[in-house]
Amino acid sequence: MPDRSTEPAPGQISRTRLAGLIGRERAEYRRRHPRSAEAFAAAGGHLLGGVPMTWMRMWSGGFPLYLASASGARLTDIDGNEFIDFCLGDTGAMAGHSPAAVRDAVARRFGELGGSTTMLPTEDAAWVAGELTRRFGPTHWSFTLTATDANRWAIRLARQLTGRPKILVYSHCYHGSVDEAFILATPHGPASREGNVGAPVDPVTTTRVVEFNDAKALDTELGYGDVAAVLMEPALTNIGIVLPEPGYLEKVRELTSRHGSLLINDETHTFSAGPGGCTRAWRLEPDIVTIGKSIAGGIPAGAYGLTAKLAERILADESADIVDAGGVGGTLAGNALSVAAMRATLEHVLTDAAFEGMNEVADRYTAGVSDVLVSRSLPWTITQLGARAEYRFCSQRPRTGGESAAAADTDLDEYLHLYLVNRGILLTPFHNMALMCPSTTLADADAHTKIFAGAADELLD
Ligand SMILES: Cc1ncc(COP(=O)(O)O)c(C=O)c1O
Repeated sequence: MPDRSTEPAPGQISRTRLAGLIGRERAEYRRRHPRSAEAFAAAGGHLLGGVPMTWMRMWSGGFPLYLASASGARLTDIDGNEFIDFCLGDTGAMAGHSPAAVRDAVARRFGELGGSTTMLPTEDAAWVAGELTRRFGPTHWSFTLTATDANRWAIRLARQLTGRPKILVYSHCYHGSVDEAFILATPHGPASREGNVGAPVDPVTTTRVVEFNDAKALDTELGYGDVAAVLMEPALTNIGIVLPEPGYLEKVRELTSRHGSLLINDETHTFSAGPGGCTRAWRLEPDIVTIGKSIAGGIPAGAYGLTAKLAERILADESADIVDAGGVGGTLAGNALSVAAMRATLEHVLTDAAFEGMNEVADRYTAGVSDVLVSRSLPWTITQLGARAEYRFCSQRPRTGGESAAAADTDLDEYLHLYLVNRGILLTPFHNMALMCPSTTLADADAHTKIFAGAADELLD
């Protein structure tokens, strides 16, 4: 009789088999992308890490695909391969690639009218601010070029407004390259995140950190009375998706108010939950909302919004220089081109109606993946947040960033990314996040399900 003691149980994965499959898919990736491989090899000389931005090294397969063109939910590489794009520029293109309304607004502003960056306001800005108020609640908005800057400036304002030195974030959060946020809750207490590049100071001195969904820890940390603001995503999205438990976000609001800390909702990714992100979908009442990435349909832009009361206080604060070199604002922020693109995106592309369609496609994607997991007894989960969904290698939905981090599996990530990309499906290179844009179709979701099922079957064969 064959010895079965080393064979995996149902739904379990043989690591030897997985290694073999990764080798096969890596070879296939090289075979399908010779021009991208050549371009990458040729680019090395003067680009740091061989790529325009170092994260672009993250793609599985040893080199990134080189972009030829993109439209809606489709992207073509320089080898002529077409992809259904669920990566969507890691959310930067949640409006779809080059949506017509944004393309026209950009052409008009930059081409016809001229003047993309002049340090003068345009009338679009007030429209955009009004629309952001309608969607997210805060009444007074200012613009940035990135979500990172929106968070940085919001943190500075929160410190100024409260006179307190620290901020509080969740373990395994990501809010852009914000110095204060590179901290983890560990069994031995708070610690700087591994790989934190050139930290100006140990984040333990600037930041308190707790696990998501842990109200008791939040109460304790806020109780020290030195936290200016809690900076949070209403659901974590950068360590898989971690949803809040019922009542948790209400508790966060209650505790921040009781302890005199401001609450900042970073809606950069959770915007996928609907036209006003989680803030509107779940009737949240933060003091400040920050957002970036997708709101200008692919043109760099970000924004932060304050409640009327906070806006009035900061404008009246003579010790806060917000009109010159006081640490808030930037030369190109609020430029006419970004603002025109934001207006076109919010008015015509990421509309209330568009989110209904995106959610429907994400429901289909999630149901398809769920069927595959159940029918193959795979001990994985899928979690959806409106137009975004993500599978994770654990049988129960993680409650905290720590639990979700423990479910990471770089080999499985690599296998699935390569398997999908070799068959025309692009996921974000970070974990297994998939995002729907207004042009993503039900058939696109089904195409993913079919290929994902194939990947699962080969793993379990
Ligand atoms: C929640 C959140 N906030 C902020 C950022 C920073 O965005 P950007 O890199 O465009 O500044 C990110 C980036 O992934 C994010 O996920």
